[in-house]
Amino acid sequence: MSTISDTLVCRLAEADHVAVLTGAGISAESGIPTFRDPDGLWDEFEPQELANVEAFLDNPTLVQGWYRHRRQVVEEAEPNAGHRALKALEAHVPSVSVVTQNVDDLHNRAGSDAVIELHGNITRNYCVDCERTAAPDVVDAAIRDGAPARCPACDGLIRPDVVWFGERLPPEAVERADAATARADVLLSVGTSAVVYPAARYPVRAREHGAYVAEVNPDTTGVTPDVDESIRGPAGEVLPALVEAVGDRSEEGAGAP
Ligand code: OAD
Repeated sequence: MSTISDTLVCRLAEADHVAVLTGAGISAESGIPTFRDPDGLWDEFEPQELANVEAFLDNPTLVQGWYRHRRQVVEEAEPNAGHRALKALEAHVPSVSVVTQNVDDLHNRAGSDAVIELHGNITRNYCVDCERTAAPDVVDAAIRDGAPARCPACDGLIRPDVVWFGERLPPEAVERADAATARADVLLSVGTSAVVYPAARYPVRAREHGAYVAEVNPDTTGVTPDVDESIRGPAGEVLPALVEAVGDRSEEGAGAP
């Protein structure tokens, strides 16, 4: 893990609002493959081939089955030290917004107060016709029977509550993410390749608004040239170390005359 600067620790300890942009890398240490990695059972499919409405209408059973598999991976996973550290940061900073591209629910399960889900949440399903929420076991039962999962109320097809290629992001989430970015004193970009928009523009935009911007990632990313600082290492190691340093600094500050 590369060194964390004093500047970052100070800026976090003094911040009123911190925005954290997260991507698949923060959940890698929970055993969830990053978005573009081959995925065991399903490695004969490219995500782009299944994560779109045409594929769903063409073969709902296949797409529902793929998402059910991914949901089961997520349900068996646990939040890791990186997710928990972001929750712990709330003890030292008045306001922390987690803007996530992940659909795995792990920030919610770690207890983060303000999670903004840009790409939806794979644990939720809804009917494409009446838009009622559908319980996961409706999908599970249909897939076991080899039939497409349909809404118990209106017989419409059931889909996961995630954003597919070619679809708009949920406007309320985008609005909240825009606001969180604009008022951030510090933005952390964690575990994202930062190549998918609009998420990838948040670090740049936060910096334009005067935020100090740091990324946490073992590798270079699309925003590496635009950040103030890159901490090279896994989120599950870097974030706990960072939050501990911020806690120490806050205590020192509190003890000062
Ligand atoms: P990617 O799979 O593009 O990138 C994952 C990033 O995590 C890479 O930069 C890795 O270097 C980094 N990484 C891996 N292990 C890590 C660790 N332990 N700690 C920290 N970082 C680690 O995933 P995203 O950037 O999330 O969109 O992809 C963004 C979007 O692309 C996804 O949400 C998805 C896809 O199109 C939709 O489905 C709409």
